[in-house]
Amino acid sequence: MGAIIIVGGTSGLGLAVAEHFVGQGREVVVTGRDPDRAKSIAAELGAAGGLGFDLSKPEQIAPALAELGAVDHVVLMAIERDANSVGAYDLTQALQLVTMKLVGYTEVVHALQDRLSEQGSVLVFGGLAKDRPYPGSTTVSTVNAGVLGLTRTLAVELAPIRVNSLHPGIVGDTPFWSDKPAEVLEGHRKVTLTGRLTATKDIVGAVAFLLENASANDVHLNLNGGIRW
Ligand SMILES: NC(=O)c1ccc[n+]([C@@H]2O[C@H](COP(=O)([O-])OP(=O)(O)OC[C@H]3O[C@@H](n4cnc5c(N)ncnc54)[C@H](OP(=O)(O)O)[C@@H]3O)[C@@H](O)[C@H]2O)c1
Repeated sequence: MGAIIIVGGTSGLGLAVAEHFVGQGREVVVTGRDPDRAKSIAAELGAAGGLGFDLSKPEQIAPALAELGAVDHVVLMAIERDANSVGAYDLTQALQLVTMKLVGYTEVVHALQDRLSEQGSVLVFGGLAKDRPYPGSTTVSTVNAGVLGLTRTLAVELAPIRVNSLHPGIVGDTPFWSDKPAEVLEGHRKVTLTGRLTATKDIVGAVAFLLENASANDVHLNLNGGIRW
């Protein structure tokens, strides 16, 4: 069996996904921006390794991944959040997120393609902002919608390797959301049809399904409890 590479596996949802697969006895490699931090988090987890590269500097990616052997699954879930609106458009921030999430993600797959198992898969994270924009989501909505196009073309180009995307709603117990004011979280909770925010364990279950189900291909899964628009 080859490794499971979790790009953005040093915190939040990525860390939970890494914990899950380490617990299953799988060879897991987590990545973040800083190699020392990634290595130390990998050691704490009992993961096989930790690597550091900045997705917004795509030329760093292939050298950083050069030492990896056979790979079964790639999970692309790193993020740097960008509050950007067309009225006050910050070019530097926009370029950072667009480069990391669209060009950087693609370069990871390009760099690993000769080591990807034919039975393996790629999973790309997007998010609810692709369908539900809000003031300040200009770049986030753009890249999350871009994830759909990226996933679809990768599924065709990499076949028979499976490629899927996962679009979570607000995951209330992640570090990004858990410290937000109660009224902010309540505003998001009350528009869900389930009456609860998505939980990290829900996302981990969806990742396991999309990586491991041999017929899950070109699936673009919205996981948010159902939203009352
Ligand atoms: N949390 C939610 O409610 C939610 C909702 C919808 C979608 N999502 C999506 O789910 C994914 C995970 O979200 P999260 O909240 O769990 O994220 P998070 O806790 O903020 O973690 C971000 C990860 O990305 C890495 N990273 C940041 N900038 C990077 C860069 N320039 N190059 C390489 N790696 C970089 C970080 O590594 P270091 O810090 O170690 O550098 C860290 O591992 C994201 O794609 C996000 O858009 C999350």
